Amino acid sequence: MICNDYIMDRRTFLRLTGVGAGGVLGALAGCGSGSGGQNTPVRDWSAENPLRIPPELRSYGPDHAYDLELRPGRTAFRADRQTPTWGVNGSYLGPTLRMQQGDHITVNVQNNLPEATTLHWHGMRLPAAADGGPHQPIPAIGRWQTGWEVVNAASTCWYHPHPHGATAQHVFRGVAGMIIIDDDDTRRLTLPRDYGVDDIPVILQDRSIDGGGQVQWETESNFGQLGTDMLVNGTMNAYLDVTTRRVRLRLLNASNARLYHVGFADGRHFALIAGDDGLLPAPVELDRVTLGPAERADIVVTCAPGERVIMDTAAGDERIDEGTYALMELRATATLKDTPDVPTRLGGAPPIVPPAGARVRHFELQGHDAINGQEMDLTRIDEVVPASAVEIWEVENDVYSHNFHIHGVSFTILDRDGEAPHAWETGRKDTVHVPEKSSVRLAVQFSSFVDPTLPYMYHCHILRHEDAGMMGQFLVVEPGTEAVTPRSIPAPSGSHSGHPS
Ligand code: C2O
Ligand code: CU
Ligand code: CU
Repeated sequence: MICNDYIMDRRTFLRLTGVGAGGVLGALAGCGSGSGGQNTPVRDWSAENPLRIPPELRSYGPDHAYDLELRPGRTAFRADRQTPTWGVNGSYLGPTLRMQQGDHITVNVQNNLPEATTLHWHGMRLPAAADGGPHQPIPAIGRWQTGWEVVNAASTCWYHPHPHGATAQHVFRGVAGMIIIDDDDTRRLTLPRDYGVDDIPVILQDRSIDGGGQVQWETESNFGQLGTDMLVNGTMNAYLDVTTRRVRLRLLNASNARLYHVGFADGRHFALIAGDDGLLPAPVELDRVTLGPAERADIVVTCAPGERVIMDTAAGDERIDEGTYALMELRATATLKDTPDVPTRLGGAPPIVPPAGARVRHFELQGHDAINGQEMDLTRIDEVVPASAVEIWEVENDVYSHNFHIHGVSFTILDRDGEAPHAWETGRKDTVHVPEKSSVRLAVQFSSFVDPTLPYMYHCHILRHEDAGMMGQFLVVEPGTEAVTPRSIPAPSGSHSGHPS
């Protein structure tokens, strides 16, 4: 059985990739690690639309300010068939915020949506008051100004709503965007850096879009949203014109539930250069990289003049990675601008090593809506952590696929069921995939921002699970004050409660 769900006849495949029969067999053998898309129909796929590149938004003025407007609009995913969507400074998704380590930035958020929401800066280390979680609601037709000093090193982060109980719906409608952070070190590295030319945002989302262009909501019991139409930066059937020999793809899984195994149809290798929380110490050569919701990976892929190759996601054996799908086609021009090799050292942060006697906390993900026997409660503080601590967090999962994200930290995966983590997840991270009946141990570096009354969140980033209550809250406090810190706080005023009607 052919495991690719999109159709490409063998001759085209040979011509486009320039490989012999052995290469084809090799590529096919490599593409279906699990169920091989058993439940998904064979899909016709051809590249039709140029990849949309979200505009880059740089800060302005002495305040390094950004103006973001959340607004309803209409978007055509299929030809000219419009559907209602939400976006940031546009009708779907938002601009890429470009920032610099060390900047003191200000963000002005105007919420022109018909509902209260929030805007969270996923992956950024900042004070809890600026985090944009459920405790910082922005009323409908309301405004929120926040700001912080950018302490993160060069990396790819993102922003998305985080209203209590309605995150899945708000992200699904289209409120999300990328954040790219630069620092002095990355400017010295010879990596592709021309935004939209050889340094490309690749925001992955799955939707089910009917022939009339309408987007289906709640397509899957338990996981909520799993679509069979793949959007890259909001583009269906996307192609990217490649004009340089090497191109950097900043992969961001902004899907509600889907797990991707990203690679290329011809099985070519690429260099993984960064994970969630920035550059790796050295590049890792791979032919697939797995990304659960909210995870990021920067890869550098090499193209030959004139070739075309499809980037795809391979099927796995969890329900959230059913089916092999084309994501987009890379189309190299007849002549390519030469680019330097990927440096052999990237200078990313080394793994976090927990000190002897580090505090260990245990989290059990239960069903689809609870952690350690409890559903999320905005007024309950689950954990209190001393500032700047390094702790070991053990996350155990009995049933269904989940993942685990912690706000405002950086972590290293120590092990998975006692074994070394996968090659693609050895860098510093903030979100980890946790398959059914497995456990992971994380070495977590907490930040130094203290606030005894405003918590950060930890949760499953499958958004339906997050909304259903698979989330908890922790405070970061002055070391020594843990025992006297109150374990209950007031609910935010003006917050959105429950599910949208
Ligand atoms: Cu992507 Cu709690 O966030
Ligand atoms: Cu987050
Ligand atoms: Cu989950």
